[in-house]
Amino acid sequence: MKEYFKIDEWLIIEDGFDPDYNRVAESAMSLGNGHMGMRGNFEETYSGDSLRGTYYAGIYYPDKTKVGWWKNGYPEWFAKVLNGTNVLGIGVHINGLELDLATCEVYDFKRVLNMQHGYLERSFIAVDKNNHKTQVSSKRFLSMADSEIGAIAYSVKPLNYTGTIKLTPYLDGKVVNEDSNYDEFFWEEVEKKVDDNSCYLTMGTKKLGFQLSCAMTYDILINGQRSACQYGTQSKDNYVGYVIEKVVGKDETLTLLKYFSAVSNRDYDNEKLAMKAVEAVNRAHTSGYEKLFDAHVATWEEKWHKNDITITGDAEAQQGIRFNIFHLNQTYTGEDQRLNIGPKGFTGEKYGGSTYWDTEAYCLPFYLSTAPSHIARNLLIYRYNHLEKAKENAARLGLKGALYPMVTMNGEECHNEWEITFEEIHRNGAIAYAIYNYINYTGDKGYLAEYGIDVLVEISRFWADRVTYNPRKEQYMILGVTGPNEYENNVNNNWYTNTIASWTMEYTQEALAYLKEEHPETCEDAIKRLALKDEEIKKWQDIIQKMYYPIIEDEGVFAQQDGYMDKEQILVEELDKRHLPLNQKWSWDRILRSCFIKQADVLQGIYFFNERYDLETIKRNFDFYEPRTVHESSLSPCIYGIIASQLGYEEKAYGLYLRTARLDLDNYNHDTEDGLHITSMAGTWMSVVHGFGGLKVVNNTLHLAPFLPQLWKKYSFRVVFRDCLIKVTVDDRVTICLEDGEALSIMVYDQHIEVTRDQAITL
Ligand code: BGC
Repeated sequence: MKEYFKIDEWLIIEDGFDPDYNRVAESAMSLGNGHMGMRGNFEETYSGDSLRGTYYAGIYYPDKTKVGWWKNGYPEWFAKVLNGTNVLGIGVHINGLELDLATCEVYDFKRVLNMQHGYLERSFIAVDKNNHKTQVSSKRFLSMADSEIGAIAYSVKPLNYTGTIKLTPYLDGKVVNEDSNYDEFFWEEVEKKVDDNSCYLTMGTKKLGFQLSCAMTYDILINGQRSACQYGTQSKDNYVGYVIEKVVGKDETLTLLKYFSAVSNRDYDNEKLAMKAVEAVNRAHTSGYEKLFDAHVATWEEKWHKNDITITGDAEAQQGIRFNIFHLNQTYTGEDQRLNIGPKGFTGEKYGGSTYWDTEAYCLPFYLSTAPSHIARNLLIYRYNHLEKAKENAARLGLKGALYPMVTMNGEECHNEWEITFEEIHRNGAIAYAIYNYINYTGDKGYLAEYGIDVLVEISRFWADRVTYNPRKEQYMILGVTGPNEYENNVNNNWYTNTIASWTMEYTQEALAYLKEEHPETCEDAIKRLALKDEEIKKWQDIIQKMYYPIIEDEGVFAQQDGYMDKEQILVEELDKRHLPLNQKWSWDRILRSCFIKQADVLQGIYFFNERYDLETIKRNFDFYEPRTVHESSLSPCIYGIIASQLGYEEKAYGLYLRTARLDLDNYNHDTEDGLHITSMAGTWMSVVHGFGGLKVVNNTLHLAPFLPQLWKKYSFRVVFRDCLIKVTVDDRVTICLEDGEALSIMVYDQHIEVTRDQAITL
């Protein structure tokens, strides 16, 4: 853990340049707008260590799988989010010498991410080998108001000389993925043009036929006024650019405004692509930098109005939570049903930018509470649209029904570690649970009839086929699985998996009963379409009744899986700190044999099905499992934190919150350089709203049970619930305010409260 960035409530500040920490800063300072995103790279050439990354939503590449030993059923390829055309680049030459921060002296370096208004600023003074002292500043944003567009203002000021400054704004398609399995270049040039009127570059992927067209234009200013200048063009393989030269006097400021656009054939026909890119960049140019920026800021302000969590009295915590909310909003805006939320969003390549169970288990609640309901609905429809592929995936493993992939871009499985691909089947349950969660929260039961029932039936079918009946015990078992705790594989009867499997079959029956009652025709159609037989439903019923759940009797807790207690029982606090993190210090074999738990497993089930368990049971399980959990998945502390809040373990809850909120800012797991943990950021939001705020929805009613962490003076959050916007403020009292929508009745600390527009309620 390293406190590298300065604490500020709205800014992430890197004050001074540490080349060894550059990749971490690049990740943290990433920008995105749902359509595209880029790491916080430098505009100018940098020959030091850096991961130059620009990513375009939904554009991926099927990279041929690489494994040591092939196993039947492995996917042929792993879908990688593609590192695409570098639209950011601006070459800088000062009297013929290229500016490169790795080769000159650097002073007053600052890189600042402004989360309130969504832009990145950088400034420094460089002294090169010719002793030219130059001040540089830049400011860039990717428009939230018009997602095909971005702009950069890049200024250069000679401090001790008059000289020729050459600026080369360019589009470079020669970009490789660092995580490419066979060092392949995934792109090929399709077309390009650079002349007085337009500059564009269209690149296509070597497989799958994606095409991405980027265009650029610019303005030149001297001391803030438009200025004429000499320019030329540059064109080579996979690259186009302009070359602008200007003699700039000492203390004069030369500014390049670079406008760029990116469009793809996901949205337009190939023939029109270049034209659309040019249209978009001209739109940007006509608006001008300031107007574009204002529209961008206005969109951010609107988002923050609904999403912000304010914390008084703890600037670190405030910065942490905003950092999480900011990146979530940059990653997924929710209007495109074909898109989803990759664990690294647009901030890095690891995890391939693909969709994991993280979306349903961790991200959905954030979007449910902070955005109009169609956004969360779109996340569900994404899975509905992949149902056929999920059925193929189950069939490939010799099973009925649908098995959703652990990692995917287009519905096909990409993951190729047997213990995850074949065994981490609990992910299927999270997809069913998300349907329940969405309907429970929004009340949109119509979703079941339109889309939900098909997914539920096919997942239930999978579970019914995957269970094994043990005639000696007269119980159903689920054998050979990996639970959410990936630090153990091929276990029998993971309590969480058995629980969610059985619950899915129960909920599917409830859903069918509801449809039969309320929409008999739709129900009939669904039964026909799905060829659903009574015997099948009876079988589900039998499984539900006879499902086996392991327990640890003397502890009075659920057993994570059969045999968990055969392991040597040691607590994390008994471990020498030098052994942590286990995944970097221990052999995999040693990890698998140990009792240490990577992330919430039994507790994940207790979080999902909270109402089923009394507080005593929850407490016993928390007290048993938390001390054995190393939280080496970023998804872990939030779930434990929420349950700690429920149990009144306020200090523990707060500690877990800090760990999740500042995970990337303070580089807790020593891996922020790979990109940010976007999906766990939603978990951070949950630890405040579901944890400290105690928010849950039971029987169509919103419940709150807030407490104030000791270090905080006050906090507030807003949630959207059933067309209402509710603001909750917590200090030594709790104030609830209905800011939009009709009066509604909610429960606060198990007390019924009527909230109306005219009056805030204070408790
Ligand atoms: C976790 C998984 C998660 C994945 C992507 C892994 O470390 O164990 O539960 O889906 O990361 O975030």
